[in-house]
Amino acid sequence: MAILFTNIKQLLTFAGDSAPRAGAAMREIGLVKNAAVLVNGGIIEAAGPRAAVARHRLAKKARKVEVNGVCLPGFVDSHTHAVFAEPRLKDFSMRAAGASYQEIKAAGGGIISSIGAVRAQPLKAMAAQLAARAARFLECGTTTIEVKSGYGLSLDSELKMLRAVREAQKFTPLEMLPTLLAAHSVPPEFKGDAQKYLAHVIAEILPKAAAEKLAVFADIFCEKGYFTPEQTTAYLKEAARLGLRPKVHSEQLSNYGGTRAGAAAGAISADHADHVYAEDIAALRDSGTIATLLPASNYYLGLSKYPPASELIAEGVPVALATDFNPGTCPCWNMQFVLSAACTHCAMTPEEAICAATVNGAWALGIGDRAGSVTPGMQADLAFFEADDYRELAYYFGANQNLLTVKKGEIVHPRF
Ligand code: NIG
Ligand code: FE
Repeated sequence: MAILFTNIKQLLTFAGDSAPRAGAAMREIGLVKNAAVLVNGGIIEAAGPRAAVARHRLAKKARKVEVNGVCLPGFVDSHTHAVFAEPRLKDFSMRAAGASYQEIKAAGGGIISSIGAVRAQPLKAMAAQLAARAARFLECGTTTIEVKSGYGLSLDSELKMLRAVREAQKFTPLEMLPTLLAAHSVPPEFKGDAQKYLAHVIAEILPKAAAEKLAVFADIFCEKGYFTPEQTTAYLKEAARLGLRPKVHSEQLSNYGGTRAGAAAGAISADHADHVYAEDIAALRDSGTIATLLPASNYYLGLSKYPPASELIAEGVPVALATDFNPGTCPCWNMQFVLSAACTHCAMTPEEAICAATVNGAWALGIGDRAGSVTPGMQADLAFFEADDYRELAYYFGANQNLLTVKKGEIVHPRF
């Protein structure tokens, strides 16, 4: 049945080119005041001034929902590690006492400390836990997320993580796109031999994930103590050959070369970008790779350095924002907080931040042709917030201002 969402104080349509937005285009939000959105069959039929939408042939018979708030495209959170068995509270206590990410790793915490519980967890329990977490994303206005493996680091457990995403998808309307992150860290069995582990990943894990079509993307953590730029190139090239689109965790803790390796391998996005220099930025712009910034992880790690968003935008690199939801560096699933962190710490304007969290997030997942904007023919993925002005979303922080979330034309939060 058609639904007419009406009495919308401000609608941000992000009408524009069907392409990732860069430069000034990131500030073109397509604002309509006193608006309405008509959805039918999972698709947006009409969006714009209330009076004009009310004249649509389907409007009269549609169910009417008085919104009395702000409407955006549903958030597209293009970088999460939402499958993990246990929170890392020991790491948290160490960090609160002043330890850095690297010091926590040296003390036996970090990524490797997540693998025991992930390997032991049955697939069904893993899927149920992910489906429960999916509800938390929906209630904050997120309609699509990317989900990475990377806490199993063995053939069976990495495939199990990806299968859990597929299984959980049966129980939640939140759309989830899976990423193989087998190259997240070197598991203990390989005794620090990254080259040997990567050879195993390339020979065994990548081909099986690709053959079973368990992942859309392949990702690698390019950083000192993890994987080198050369290893990144080898892994991403092989992933692309097998049909998985490359992504990379790069320049998170230092300037190490992962961004350029990712751009050269045709990565759809290079994520973190905290320590990018001019040559990395030029490589991103020239390859059309999206820079996905994750400022909530900088916040959680207590870092004073944040990614240079305004420089990336000024240089014409399309910028996306995502949570990086994970147990070690960002236990936060709320994209509204990410907007706040981006505006407060990365000098992004609220317009740029919301564009980065919707349209450009969708392009960072290769689905920008069907999601990320509120225009006729697009998937009806919407988020409504209790606000008079869209800037309030990035202004108030630490709260959930969401009123209603719509996925493929269905109200999925709150459930009636
Ligand atoms: O994006 N940097 C690598 N991966 C995650 C952290 C994962 C963890 O510490 O569990 C990140 O920050
Ligand atoms: Fe990450």
